[in-house]
Amino acid sequence: MYRDAPHPIRLEDYRPPEFLIDRVDLRFDLDPDLTRVAADLHMRRNPAATRGDGSLTLHGEQLELDRVSIDGYPLTPAEYRVDAESLTLQRVPDRFLLQTWVHIHPARNTALEGLYQSGEMLCTQCEAEGFRRITYFLDRPDVMARYGVTLAADRGRFPVLLSNGNPGEPRDLGDGRHEVHWEDPFPKPCYLFALIAGDLGLVADHFTTASGREVGLRIYVEPHNLDQCDHAMRSLKRAMRWDEERFGREYDLDLFMIVAVSHFNMGAMENKGLNVFNDKYVLARPDIATDQDFAGIEGVIAHEYFHNWTGNRITCRDWFQLSLKEGFTVYRDQEFSAAMGSSAVKRIHDVRGLRAHQFAEDAGPLAHPVRPTAYIEINNFYTSTVYEKGAEVVRMQANLLGPALFRKATDLYFTRYDGQAVTTDDFVTCMEVASGRDLTQFRRWYEQAGTPELWVQGDYDPAQGSYRLRVRQHTPATPGQPQKGPLHLPLAVGLLDAGGQELPLRLSDDPVVAGADAARVGTRVLEVRAAVEQFRFVGLPERPVPSLLRGFSAPVKLRFDYSDQDLEFLMARDTDGFARWDAAQTLMQRVLLRTVAQPQIQVPGAFFAACRLALLDTESAPALRAEVLILPGESYLADQMAVVDVDGIHAAREHLRRRIGEELGEDLRRVYAAQAETGPYAFTPEGTGRRALKGLALGYLMAGGGQDAITLCNDQFSAAHSMTDVMVALRLLVDHGGPAGAAALVEFYRRWSAVPLVIDKWFSIQATSSRADTLEQVVHLMDHPDFSLRNPNRVRSLIGAFCTANPVRFHAADGSGYRFLAERVLELDPLNPQIASRLLKSLIRWRRFDPQRQGLMRAELGRILAAEALSKDAYEVASKALEGT
Ligand code: TRP
Ligand code: ZN
Repeated sequence: MYRDAPHPIRLEDYRPPEFLIDRVDLRFDLDPDLTRVAADLHMRRNPAATRGDGSLTLHGEQLELDRVSIDGYPLTPAEYRVDAESLTLQRVPDRFLLQTWVHIHPARNTALEGLYQSGEMLCTQCEAEGFRRITYFLDRPDVMARYGVTLAADRGRFPVLLSNGNPGEPRDLGDGRHEVHWEDPFPKPCYLFALIAGDLGLVADHFTTASGREVGLRIYVEPHNLDQCDHAMRSLKRAMRWDEERFGREYDLDLFMIVAVSHFNMGAMENKGLNVFNDKYVLARPDIATDQDFAGIEGVIAHEYFHNWTGNRITCRDWFQLSLKEGFTVYRDQEFSAAMGSSAVKRIHDVRGLRAHQFAEDAGPLAHPVRPTAYIEINNFYTSTVYEKGAEVVRMQANLLGPALFRKATDLYFTRYDGQAVTTDDFVTCMEVASGRDLTQFRRWYEQAGTPELWVQGDYDPAQGSYRLRVRQHTPATPGQPQKGPLHLPLAVGLLDAGGQELPLRLSDDPVVAGADAARVGTRVLEVRAAVEQFRFVGLPERPVPSLLRGFSAPVKLRFDYSDQDLEFLMARDTDGFARWDAAQTLMQRVLLRTVAQPQIQVPGAFFAACRLALLDTESAPALRAEVLILPGESYLADQMAVVDVDGIHAAREHLRRRIGEELGEDLRRVYAAQAETGPYAFTPEGTGRRALKGLALGYLMAGGGQDAITLCNDQFSAAHSMTDVMVALRLLVDHGGPAGAAALVEFYRRWSAVPLVIDKWFSIQATSSRADTLEQVVHLMDHPDFSLRNPNRVRSLIGAFCTANPVRFHAADGSGYRFLAERVLELDPLNPQIASRLLKSLIRWRRFDPQRQGLMRAELGRILAAEALSKDAYEVASKALEGT
């Protein structure tokens, strides 16, 4: 039990740092068991800060202090104080050289924060507050310094020694050791520091920037993975070009390096000039990576690269401003991926993710604004709200300003704040200055948690030929924020006539301009500000069907009383691909929730007709056809119910899958055959789309229970040369159960046992199977020789997959899933609190379930909270989940 509850850090308590660090010289004598770190910090009092008591407190955790000196004079123990989190010097001059010598133990570091060992290599992870586990420092992003780093290590074990910036000549130290010095000319916060030591192979390439500078590009991986770097390198070069063209951003150093490591808490990290990646987001080859993996690599490579401007050159003043860099950078990587492939399909994926994760977060006990105001552990705030909703908030500003003014605003942002640590408010100010618009009300998007609901009503007046849209907005209360104000948002709409033609969007108060109607056909962005707004469209000879929130122009829940026929019509005829998908989602959700309420209900024939039309709509790209026909997920459906009916939702979804498979059988077979692979695998929009449609067809055929479906699955499993096709078939065979599924699992393991990223897939498939004995299997797999609690990818692939992607088994009515999770959290917490805390989030939405499950979930949360020496990470999540009980 936490005796002294940890104190929250509050935004309102922000003060500029009392001291600044202009330059840092670090020397590392690297060894996994004991690494010595010598730091020279050139410090001075911050003229912009109020004077304190003359003492100086530096952050430091898990450090063993050997010596400390000021301006060359060693301090006696009476002149400083050390505790578990800091080093305090009683009196310091206004400008001085602080030197410290500490030692640390990378091999014992299982938290993967600071300097740690991954396989045979040594690497660092400093964001958010890991640098304090390397040396004593002012570990806050508004302290920006220039770094010189010397790395010394055994040459045989660690032939490659990397850090930020530019390298000097390597030096031999005799005694089998060598050293390399690195200089980073750009001032940076310490969370962007990185070092790597290991026996790594490298793929080299180069890039000529728009202004003609040559940049060396290097991807470092373990030598046996050198054949898996092509896609990452191609993605990097595309990202560099795109950022020049779209945002006018050029790379600034002579060298850009990427390193792939196998033990990593998150996706990747944007350290200056030396991005460190979870190898899952670097390594790819058609036979071992799926289309989804290829897309993930393209997006994450771009994301980290884009941080060089949005995050590194311009960084965050404090961690409450995290979305300044993350929201903007996610927006940038989403736009990049959209430009590389199909923008409608990219938007569909992003919105599906936002609704599944961010909307759920906003509706639970950890709801927080894009700019939070308090935290206990900042690592808990790398959330879908800060990242994905933050990106939507940037996108809305882009939509409100239009492309030209938005570009003007980002140009202003980059020149005005280069080299500084700033706030989300500074970002919005640039939008205002560049456009001349007032975004005071818009700033609420950063301050208010919760997903706004938009209730829209449409009335057609045949006598006037007018159509009135009435828009009412309401944001539900969230913890600590009972009252919400109305938000300023862009609502993109279109109006369709009965033939599916776009109608002109003339508002009653538009000035009358000859020929203006023709220009107004298509999508129009309405600006909503008040709690209730009205828009009256005129000049409409017939009742239009409104197409609302096109492209998901704002992250809200739209409520409009469409008839089933309207939705079928939009699903087939809307000119906006995203809107067609969204209409299909709404319709499928309706059919499914009706079935949950009344399991015997018949699905109307018109529904299958609409599905058939979408399946056979060869006018649309295969990728879009596939998206339109994917049923909403079980968790998303659960979010739409007052009290979640876990088993009812699963049964309804399985039932509808079977019915679609039966009704569309012949068409599905034809579509499946028509998508057969014709050449070698290529990660292209056409290829991915074809494979997605093929997989979708096979899935429904299996659900329909046709005799030939299992044969098709078996053939696809054994013959396919792309991991995408193999995985689709394997998943279907395993879910089907029986000897075919078991045999496929054995065969898959035999083929891929040497490739860890593929073995992750093997664990995941088993963990997410809907078979009744899945938890038993998962428990059993924890004893598999390939399983380890110390590798986050493994933990996510088995435990994480079971708890987040298998609702029907995780929420088993006897509480076995909850108990399993709580035990794993308690095991993991002392090893890796970040991973433990993320897992724990699967338990927090207990209020959504029936009384029995509520009780079971609460009991597990209580058990976790009562544990001795719980981390701050897990404490914050569990205590907030139980708040008010
Ligand atoms: N800044 C990283 C990104 O979004 C994410 C990150 C934050 C991270 N903390 C981390 C990555 C810890 C790995 C480990 O690109
Ligand atoms: Zn990021």
